Amino acid sequence: MKIGIDKIGFYTPSFYVDMTELAEARNIDPNKFTIGIGQDKMAFAPISQDSVTMGANAALQILNEEDLKKIDLVILATESGIDESKAGAVYIHRLLGIQPFSRAIEIKEACYGATAGINLAKDYVAKHPESKVLVIGSDIARYGLETGGEATQGAGAVAMVISANPRCITLEDDNVFYTEDIMDFWRPVYSEYACVEGKYSTEQYIHFFQTIWEKYREKFGKKLDDFAAICFHLPYTKMGKKALDTIIETAPSDVQERLLENYRLSTLYSRSVGNIYTGSLYLSFISLLENQANLQANDKIGFFSYGSGAVGEFFHGTLQPDFKKYIRTEEHAELLANRTKLSISDYETKFKQQLPKDGSTFEIDPSSDPAPIVLTGIQDHKRQYIKK
Ligand code: HMG
Repeated sequence: MKIGIDKIGFYTPSFYVDMTELAEARNIDPNKFTIGIGQDKMAFAPISQDSVTMGANAALQILNEEDLKKIDLVILATESGIDESKAGAVYIHRLLGIQPFSRAIEIKEACYGATAGINLAKDYVAKHPESKVLVIGSDIARYGLETGGEATQGAGAVAMVISANPRCITLEDDNVFYTEDIMDFWRPVYSEYACVEGKYSTEQYIHFFQTIWEKYREKFGKKLDDFAAICFHLPYTKMGKKALDTIIETAPSDVQERLLENYRLSTLYSRSVGNIYTGSLYLSFISLLENQANLQANDKIGFFSYGSGAVGEFFHGTLQPDFKKYIRTEEHAELLANRTKLSISDYETKFKQQLPKDGSTFEIDPSSDPAPIVLTGIQDHKRQYIKK
């Protein structure tokens, strides 16, 4: 049975920071951010957006009545969870109006979470071919003002419907996965911000990619030539390229050219959004689909997922005959174009705004955020969400 991504969409909040302005404010050469790291803009989540609202906003655009009836498993992958106990997926299930005889759970393993969710969904659909599964990766990446990681922040969510006979891409079963207990990036429960060993994390990303790719080649006999494109988890857009560069020379020059051009196209959205952790790999797939007009049915797309801590995985998918009907280029162009640029001082002020942590009541004006689903405050320790 063919199983894979039937529909895919993304959401990013309505504010962004210009990376050249951020560099200037930090007395850094802007080329370091725009060329060295490869980021032009960084999405910023206002206080009215969290992993629940962003995930629900991403799913809202792609689900129709039939999906709402057929989805019976909702998986939210996030490392920006809003509760230590209740799954964010339960709120999302209600906000979207999914039929009640469903499971709703949350999954965590840094940026790898959505890949874990997709694999769980694939196994579930294999056993229940009539069911559909909603998998969401939703996160706010924050390292703090004037920190080494500041230029690699971002916010957003990707939502995918996993089903039998998917119309976008089938996901094959040639997964190679790898786990090693390392401390490259983590966020203790008492901390707002991630702890990160920046240079070490980039080395580990490459180490995981090389180790997994070697095993993949050995186990499945595949070569770079087999792929129209490879999508990467993109903590910043230079990162995947650093990994790809370590193996690209094994391919003939025309294949190298194709993979490098498609890599560039797969990074366009991340360049304007930044790191969205769990959704990042799948945002690079959306960027590729919507910016490379030459892709064709049956093209094979490789995926490299990496979540600090760390778990990595490589697998591939095959584009389906009607995949172009299910991409949303115009809506996504509009979403990115309609954002408001924050001055650096407004960004710093908004960055410091926090939801109360002492249980006090808090209200947020829903008209301050154009998103259809927003957080309107906290009452009796309960987050209040509305769909406008
Ligand atoms: P840094 O020390 O600020 O930057 O840290 P740098 O000195 O390494 O410079 C970055 C690049 O800019 C270098 O290029 C410089 O040469 C270049 P490279 O040598 O790497 O190719 N550069 C310039 N280029 C042009 N003109 C200039 C110029 N100056 C310098 N004037 C770092 C950068 C990414 C480490 C930092 O921002 C950080 O710690 N970020 C957070 C961690 C991170 O993103 N790690 C990535 C791998 S781990 C991962 O992917 C998992 C993650 O998503 C979390 C999860 O799984 O949940 C993070």
